[in-house]
Amino acid sequence: MSTIDVRVEKKVVEADGIVSLELRAVGEAVLPAFAAGAHIDVHLPNGLVRQYSLCNAPGSGGSYVIAVLREPNSRGGSSAIHDAVAVGDVLQISSPKNHFHLLSAPRSILIGGGIGVTPLVSMSEALHASGADFEVHYCARSESRTAFRNQLRASPFSGKVRFYFDDQGGSIEVNELLAAPADETHIYVCGPAGFIEFVTSSAKRLGWLDSNIHFEYFAAPTTTDEQGSVPFEIEIASTGVRLTVPEDCSAADVLLENGIEIPVSCSQGVCGTCVTRVASGMPDHRDIYLTEEEKAQNDQFMPCCSRALSRVLVLDL
Ligand code: FES
Repeated sequence: MSTIDVRVEKKVVEADGIVSLELRAVGEAVLPAFAAGAHIDVHLPNGLVRQYSLCNAPGSGGSYVIAVLREPNSRGGSSAIHDAVAVGDVLQISSPKNHFHLLSAPRSILIGGGIGVTPLVSMSEALHASGADFEVHYCARSESRTAFRNQLRASPFSGKVRFYFDDQGGSIEVNELLAAPADETHIYVCGPAGFIEFVTSSAKRLGWLDSNIHFEYFAAPTTTDEQGSVPFEIEIASTGVRLTVPEDCSAADVLLENGIEIPVSCSQGVCGTCVTRVASGMPDHRDIYLTEEEKAQNDQFMPCCSRALSRVLVLDL
């Protein structure tokens, strides 16, 4: 996959445990335009690749801004950004990708939990620029852990932003907030898995249409890792070669060990980078990227995390 070289222009402490990076193309190159909700893959100095939402206004001056929370159980991604990336460093990134599209609608409700606010910051800028009606509800543990709070408070749309700080008893009243479902209103949710599930299940219970509820996970819910795993076989359709995927190994790893490289990024079934066509067999879908309809068709799967319910899965490779 082609990458873009960018220089770290600024590194700012946005809140306790959260830094932002402003990235600009190296030399004369121009960064591709992006739409609100987009993210980029960032290739880190330790070889890991991580996805981060763009949180600046689309079209704002040829730079990308990302914000990263230092995860206490970091697998090396957030700690690399915090500890090993400095102003002036050159990083490789992907072009923006967007699985969290902001639709054109008369009214939007943006609900963010913690660092999940990042795509919503970009969305709020885009909605303000378009003149659409919107409101932002931003939940965080405390004011000191609330990234972009000063930026949002100083913004021309500050009156549309409401903060909820756990340590001040400011819990969001989702039942009140979403009490009146409306076809012309769309809800966008981003944050920890439990937060997303709470908001989206509440919205559905209150009568909101699935098509009006949009969300993006930052990481796969932990339940995907907790399911038992048994060995299965993958067959390469073009050669007939069969490979065994042991219970403690992913199909993507087995393919790589056997010289078949599938692009992998998040390794958690979140980003969709590794999607692979299935010619026959029944996948055991463990990702959160494919929709329920796509999963039901059983003609593609995510080898970074998904497995097989049938003994053999024939891959269209
Ligand atoms: S690498 Fe992200 S879904 Fe497989």
